[in-house]
Amino acid sequence: MLNDKKVLYSGMQATGNLTLGNYLGALKNWVNLNEEYECFWGVMDMHSITVRQEPAEFRKRARNLLILYIAAGLDPVKNCLYFQSHVSAHAELSWILGCFTYMGELNRMTQFKDKAAKHSDNINAGLYTYPVLMAADILLYQADYVPVGKDQKQHLEITRDIAERINGIYGDVFTIPEPYFGKAGAKIMSLQDPSKKMSKSDENINGSIYLTDDPDTIVRKCKRAVTDSDSQVRYSEDKPGISNLLDIYTACSGKTIPEAEKEFEGKGYGEFKLAVAEEVIRVLKPMQEEFERLSRDKAYIDGIIKENDAKAAYFANKTLRKVRRKIGFTDIK
Ligand code: TYM
Repeated sequence: MLNDKKVLYSGMQATGNLTLGNYLGALKNWVNLNEEYECFWGVMDMHSITVRQEPAEFRKRARNLLILYIAAGLDPVKNCLYFQSHVSAHAELSWILGCFTYMGELNRMTQFKDKAAKHSDNINAGLYTYPVLMAADILLYQADYVPVGKDQKQHLEITRDIAERINGIYGDVFTIPEPYFGKAGAKIMSLQDPSKKMSKSDENINGSIYLTDDPDTIVRKCKRAVTDSDSQVRYSEDKPGISNLLDIYTACSGKTIPEAEKEFEGKGYGEFKLAVAEEVIRVLKPMQEEFERLSRDKAYIDGIIKENDAKAAYFANKTLRKVRRKIGFTDIK
């Protein structure tokens, strides 16, 4: 890197509508990390095509995700926000890494098993080699840290295994990335089934609050959230619905769980749910407004894309050249 900062790398798939889980568990915690780290945030559009996408809709979603990164507070001058598919080094390194990854390792990936079960009509090779592409994303930028939720932990482990294997054969090629645990990012669960994570691919739209939901929708979804037959607002394993709402409430308000429990002592679930909705609306509103404003400024966004794609390609190609040399490919004249 140009400076002494450690490198941090992460991103999101441009699939479906982003949820409050993506925001509270990831995006919100990414803002300001650039003060301490050199940050790269990809719009992971190549991963998205492991499931079928409608082209026009997909193009819009990917661009919207980049705009949302900015609207959420990621400064596009101080962070590198770019499209994975615009930097061809991702595909090239992915092929190379695939030749150093064992099928036995990929067979163990739980996300592949889950997704294969969900999309049984389209179990394609890309879905299977998904973790190899993710390893390429991370290793291309010689990332020191990768902030991801628990659901991505296994993918980070295989990335480390592949990198260590290659370093073992060819010497110092890649930085070995570590998971980044910053301020605890809440794991947000579905409002309809608090045993499942809130997910953009959930078929039950009432289970997820989308970042684009308007206030009425948010109130409706919070009111309908599954709770229990008790009436105490208390954080407890046997109260997963209420605990999830408390996680949402505290992540949005900045209050602690004991503070929130005290606030709603003796009050009913109805009042609590409304307060949760109000906090969510308050947090999402400025981002939604900024998103609308930025969406109208096509020239500005186009300029950001061009600059950041070039910056990402510069760093990615540097690593790719090193890898090509180390493994013995002939030089490109
Ligand atoms: P993706 O797009 O599924 O999710 C993006 C980020 O959001 C987190 N997340 C959640 N956190 C808390 N509660 C939830 N309900 C919730 N749902 C999602 C995820 O942990 C993740 O951090 N494979 C990755 C994208 C990717 C990537 C990479 C990430 C591709 N290449 C390289 C890091 C580095 C994915 O599908 O994330």
